[in-house]
Amino acid sequence: MDETSIVWAPGRVNLIGEHTDYTGGYVLPMAIDLGITITFTESDGRLDLTSSIESERFICDLPVSDPRSLLPSWGRYPAGVAAVLGSTTGLAGRVDSTLPAGAGLSSSAALEVATALALGCEGTPAEIARICRAAETSATGVPCGIMDQLASAGGVDGHALLIDCRSESVTAIELPSEVRIVVIHSGQTRTLVGSEYAERRAQCEMAESLIGALRDAAPDAWRGIEDPMVARRARHVLSENHRVIDFVAAISAGDLVAAGRLMVESHRSLRDDFEVSTDRLDGLVARLLTTPGVHGARLTGAGFGGCVVALAEPNALDEGWDVRPSAGARRVR
Ligand code: GLA
Repeated sequence: MDETSIVWAPGRVNLIGEHTDYTGGYVLPMAIDLGITITFTESDGRLDLTSSIESERFICDLPVSDPRSLLPSWGRYPAGVAAVLGSTTGLAGRVDSTLPAGAGLSSSAALEVATALALGCEGTPAEIARICRAAETSATGVPCGIMDQLASAGGVDGHALLIDCRSESVTAIELPSEVRIVVIHSGQTRTLVGSEYAERRAQCEMAESLIGALRDAAPDAWRGIEDPMVARRARHVLSENHRVIDFVAAISAGDLVAAGRLMVESHRSLRDDFEVSTDRLDGLVARLLTTPGVHGARLTGAGFGGCVVALAEPNALDEGWDVRPSAGARRVR
């Protein structure tokens, strides 16, 4: 009897709602049809994994106590999941990825969620996402929000996910079948993501200590913050939460022009107020917006390099990855 098992977890692209998850705001990601497969058998007492995109094999003994000290570094993500789950029964197998690494399509979240399923985790998507978010933080030290892991665990075919990051509730939003979602790499690998990300998060906490929860604050509450930089960070989050809700209304009404306009506003806010864009990302968005049939484009993910997501008519673009809104992680066999 073949005892090999297979799990699959998708990457994600975020349509709108950037840097809002860790203050309990709204995001609208979708799981995509690119992702990570782990083909494995159970193995006593250790993780033993090879990867189609990494040259070095990863082996570590269970239980794991400090994933951040392990090498090669890609293995810290599965090790982080094993650490959070307290696993002692391990895996031997192969990781195959169709996701570009370092592009901002959440290859690390997909690896975490796939590992959680492989290690026998059977919770709801929100429960799996919480475990995997804790794993990410224990693997990298980055205090990320819930979006990436929840999108990978809870994706719905043909739909984006409106996530209320305070309650962690998910509403599936149907995407018009004629619209194309295209992800284009800026050619710039993300850098400084860890330190700059933690700094932005700290600045949002500073804003919240002055005006209360950003999720509940009035749209112009940022005016009450004296420090101009902290005020700009707050203005981004306040306006972005509204754009997510407006985007859902626009896309549900089939108004792609309005949806595209909101994406462009989101990009500008990330560029000017949150300061997580780069010249390369700005140049790519500007070029896409001059292309006929492109309704909108914006950086997607944490920023500092990586990818842009565009909303386009069929045949408008012949570059990048054409991604489809897809179902979330699952055990295949
Ligand atoms: C990264 C984090 C997410 C989210 C985005 C920015 O992808 O992992 O939690 O904060 O950045 O929206």
